[in-house]
Amino acid sequence: MTFTITTLVENTVYMGPKGLKGEHGLSFLIQADDRKILFDTGQTGIFMDNAEILNADLSDVDTVVLSHGHYDHAGGLERFAEFRTDFTLAGHPDIFCKKQISALGSTRDIGMPVDRETLVAKGVRLSLTSGPAEIGPGIMSTGEVPMQTGFESIEPVFLTEKEGRTLPDPFTDDQALILDTVRGTVVILGCAHRGTANTLMHVAALTGKTKIHAIMGGLHLGGASGEKLKQIAAVIRNFDIRHIGVGHCTGHKAVAYLSHEFGDRVFPIGVGQSVKF
Ligand SMILES: [Fe+2]
Ligand SMILES: [Fe+2]
Repeated sequence: MTFTITTLVENTVYMGPKGLKGEHGLSFLIQADDRKILFDTGQTGIFMDNAEILNADLSDVDTVVLSHGHYDHAGGLERFAEFRTDFTLAGHPDIFCKKQISALGSTRDIGMPVDRETLVAKGVRLSLTSGPAEIGPGIMSTGEVPMQTGFESIEPVFLTEKEGRTLPDPFTDDQALILDTVRGTVVILGCAHRGTANTLMHVAALTGKTKIHAIMGGLHLGGASGEKLKQIAAVIRNFDIRHIGVGHCTGHKAVAYLSHEFGDRVFPIGVGQSVKF
């Protein structure tokens, strides 16, 4: 199957028609045959304005998949659910947990804009599961990503709440999307809070394949050390990844490092860009 992936929200704007806007966040429109899926919704709902400018019709999106419950990926869901409610929301049940960030002496909420009950009352169908799920033919979510590499860990600035207690967010809800394309496996990453390498190793285990054709999204390498970047590059080499779409939370230093290591295989993501796999 051939997939078209259009970036509706990202931190930067790609070349394209006038008026496109970026924001710290991510939203991809994924189209294949008769399926139309949104992977994340950015933070404010401007993904819908960008879609209009790009002539991307969102009236027949059948599924919205959320990579995790942070506002920069789930925030636009509120506006989308005002536009229409005839869609399935897919994700991990913990996307609805309270989410916070504690940094520079203050703590702020960075979770979902709408609760589960409100969405259900509006008529949105929920498909929440902790494991991998088939979203459609050739489209699968990874489910919970096992922490297995040893060199990737979750930053303690992120908090969640379980049974009334605030604790470091384990990011049980963090997941990626796997597309089985004509060119091979393509992995769409949200924020990769559980680690890009952990996510890719999980994808390999789920697909049973030793190669990954392309990855794109947030690689979450903002504060990565030189040693960690080396290890990530080794994993990318190991899976023989041909196209590496970097954006959102990948981090400037990581983009520079990966570009140096992989040359033209690395491409920047931006609002208005469409790629086909
Ligand atoms: Fe996040
Ligand atoms: Fe993010």
